[in-house]
Amino acid sequence: MKIDGIHYRTIWVADDGWSVEIIDQTRLPHEFAIVRLETADDAARAIKDMLVRGAPLIGATAAYGLCLALRKDASDETLARTYDMLLATRPTAVNLKYSLDAMREVLLPLAGAARLETAYATAARLCDEDVEICRLIGENGLRIIRGLAEAKQGATVNILTHCNAGWLACVDWGTALAPIYMAHDEGIAVQVWVDETRPRNQGASLTAFELGRHGVPHTIVPDNAGGHLMQHGLVDMCIVGTDRTTATGDVANKIGTYLKALAADANGVPFYVALPHTTIDWTLSDGVREIEIEQRSAREVTHMTGRTEKGEIVTVEIAAPGSPAANYGFDVTPARYVTGLITERGVCAASREGLLSLYPERRNGGAA
Ligand code: MRU
Repeated sequence: MKIDGIHYRTIWVADDGWSVEIIDQTRLPHEFAIVRLETADDAARAIKDMLVRGAPLIGATAAYGLCLALRKDASDETLARTYDMLLATRPTAVNLKYSLDAMREVLLPLAGAARLETAYATAARLCDEDVEICRLIGENGLRIIRGLAEAKQGATVNILTHCNAGWLACVDWGTALAPIYMAHDEGIAVQVWVDETRPRNQGASLTAFELGRHGVPHTIVPDNAGGHLMQHGLVDMCIVGTDRTTATGDVANKIGTYLKALAADANGVPFYVALPHTTIDWTLSDGVREIEIEQRSAREVTHMTGRTEKGEIVTVEIAAPGSPAANYGFDVTPARYVTGLITERGVCAASREGLLSLYPERRNGGAA
């Protein structure tokens, strides 16, 4: 996507041909800063501290983290140790494991220079694949928005989204936002309700930034406004992303997603989840019980960072000093509340049969 007329992906190999550059998302929307990663530890820190975040981008960063480690030492021992270190950075997004497994599978039979060269080529391939997958998700989701626009005879289609599942969460395009960009580019009138997404405000700071730069009409709303908006007919559909979706269609996504799905169900608003196949965890069938939910620092709840009128970026305490806070990063929306899953292969029911209709090679537990 473009920032001030320049096309960016969220991660790329720098001009030196080996170090890796990312956009520091902790500084958006106030500063557009590029950060250079030189070691696997840099990559792990970028994921843990959320300079990069969003399930597909976490996976892409881990793939390049392995490259950076192998550049120093291409041994089996380094490959295994770095795999484990990167896998431990964030627990919920399964794309992390998908990427690391894909890298390890091609790298294990190789050694030395061939291993290193193949590592960079595979990381680049995984990134390119993610871009193409997101483009296809966009096209498949676009058909749904087109249908709504036709039903509304051209009146504005109002879409609610939670967290950031746009191009900043992926390598390019995004998952939930890709159909919205395509609809807007095609001339369909869309308006996006952007949940602010406490505690880290990925909606207010990242989704609003992306949509604004692309010229998509949008409005930031507090996280607890969705029910009211839906009750008053102000939401035509919800689209969110996901960090891990079970083989039965249960969806883990940013904390608060479940409440939106409940409100959507109660008000007859379609609730779609957009996802690449890399987010499906075929080993799980009960999301509420089986998906590990990341718990992050209480400080993310008790403090907030923002820009003062003088342009200074400051962090302030917003909670009663000394009160404990809980910070569950994600929740699980059971499949029964999901109208459909928008994937690169098409749209399906959120169910085992629905997913298998798009990924028949998984029917007998086979590889994708
Ligand atoms: O904690 P984050 O910012 O990594 O959480 C991101 C989300 O929950 C996204 O909705 C999800 O990763 C899907 S991204 C295409």
